[in-house]
Amino acid sequence: MTTRLSLQINGRTVAYEVSPRTHLGDFLREQEKLTGTHLGCEHGVCGACVVLVDDQPIRSCITYAVACEGRSVTTIEGYDSDPLMAKLRHAFSSHHALQCGYCTPGMLATARDIVLRLPDANERVVRAELSGNLCRCTGYLGIVEAILFVLHDLKQTPDARVEALRSSKVLQHQLADNTRIQNNTLPFQTFSAHDVSSVDPNMRGGHSIPAAALEDSPQLTTNGTTILESFDLPFSATTVWLMMIDLPAVARCLPGAFISTLEADRVQGGISLKFGPMQAAFDGVATMSIDEHNQTAILNGNGKDRLSQSRASAKITYRIESIEHGHSRVHVNMLYSLQGPLAQFSRSGIVQDFVRRMIKIFADNIVLSLTDPNQSLTQQPQALRPLALFFGIFWDRLRNLFSRSK
Ligand code: FES
Ligand code: FES
Repeated sequence: MTTRLSLQINGRTVAYEVSPRTHLGDFLREQEKLTGTHLGCEHGVCGACVVLVDDQPIRSCITYAVACEGRSVTTIEGYDSDPLMAKLRHAFSSHHALQCGYCTPGMLATARDIVLRLPDANERVVRAELSGNLCRCTGYLGIVEAILFVLHDLKQTPDARVEALRSSKVLQHQLADNTRIQNNTLPFQTFSAHDVSSVDPNMRGGHSIPAAALEDSPQLTTNGTTILESFDLPFSATTVWLMMIDLPAVARCLPGAFISTLEADRVQGGISLKFGPMQAAFDGVATMSIDEHNQTAILNGNGKDRLSQSRASAKITYRIESIEHGHSRVHVNMLYSLQGPLAQFSRSGIVQDFVRRMIKIFADNIVLSLTDPNQSLTQQPQALRPLALFFGIFWDRLRNLFSRSK
C-alpha cells in the first residue's frame, strides 16, 4: 500500500507515492538521493539524521515521511543561500569541529537552531542543547567553540539577514500560539517551584516538599511500564483531594500541558515534551473516574504525537492519604506505554527518571497553586525546563553510580 506524498525539499516541490512506513531519512536518501542526511542509530538517539521540517530540527530516522505532507524540509544540501549556515560552516572548519564528518550534518542543523533561538547562550547552554547530537570523534570541544564563536561574532557584528531569520523564528512561535488561541484552546499556566536553571548537585530544590519517595522499581508488564511514586504535601487531605479532582487545576500544574475542551469527566487537550533526543507533542483525550470514599481518582488517557505519529496511553491512579500534622500524602501509580517510533524510549531508565521528575515538578506546582490560588492569574506561563531536567537526571545517575561503587 502506498500513499501520495507532496512536500517541499530544499525549496523544490516534490510528489511521490510512498509506503506509510517509510521514514523521512530513508525517503530523503533513497528517493531523493540526498545522502548528506546521515543515519546512525536509527533510533532517535544520535542526532546524525537531524533535518529541518518547517524550520524546526527533527530526527528524520523516527519521523514518517507521510507525516511531512505539505511541509517544508531542509537538508544539509539545502543551505547554500542560508547566511547563518555559511558562518557556521566556516566556523566548524576553522575550529576543527569535525573529523570523519558523520555527525556534522545533524550537528550543523542543531547548531543553526541554537544560534537562532538562543543568542545569549553560554558554553553550558550550548553543551546542553547539543546533548542530543553524538560525535564519536571530536570530543565536542571544537564544535562548542565554533558555535560560541558564531554567537559572539553575531553580537560584535550583527547581521541583518540572521536577525531576519531570528525574527521569523519568533514569528513562528507567535503564530503557533495564535493558532492555539483561535482553536479555542487554553495554554496552561505552569509554575516552577524552584529555579533549576543552574546545575545544582542536589537538584531536589522543592522548598516545602520532601524528596519524592520511590516506592518501588519500575515494572515492565505486557501493558506497559508502571511507576509508583508518592509525595507529601503540607495541606490537608481534603484540600488536596478537592484540587486533584479538578481537571483544569490538575492540568495547570503539569508543565507543557494545554486543554482544548472539557466536558464533565472528559478532557481533550495535549502535552508537549522536549527532553534530550526526545521531542513530542501529544494530542489526545482523557477521562477521569473518582472514588470519593477512598479519595482515589483514575485518569485514563491516550494521545498521538503530531509528527512521529507515535501513540501513548497512560493510566494514572492517585490516592490521597491523610498523614500527621494535618498533611497529606499523594500515592501515584502510573502505567504508561508508547507505540511507534518513540516506543524505544519507554523502556529506557532515563525516561522513567524523566517521568519521576515530572511528578516532582507537578507536586511543587500543586504547593504553589494551593499556597496562592491567584498565582495562576499573575504568573507568566513557564515552559518545562528540559535542560535543567536533563542535567538533574544526569547528575542523579552519576551520583548513584558512584555511591554504588563505594
Ligand atoms: S539516526 Fe540516530 S537519531 Fe536518527
Ligand atoms: S566528526 Fe566523526 S562523528 Fe563527529
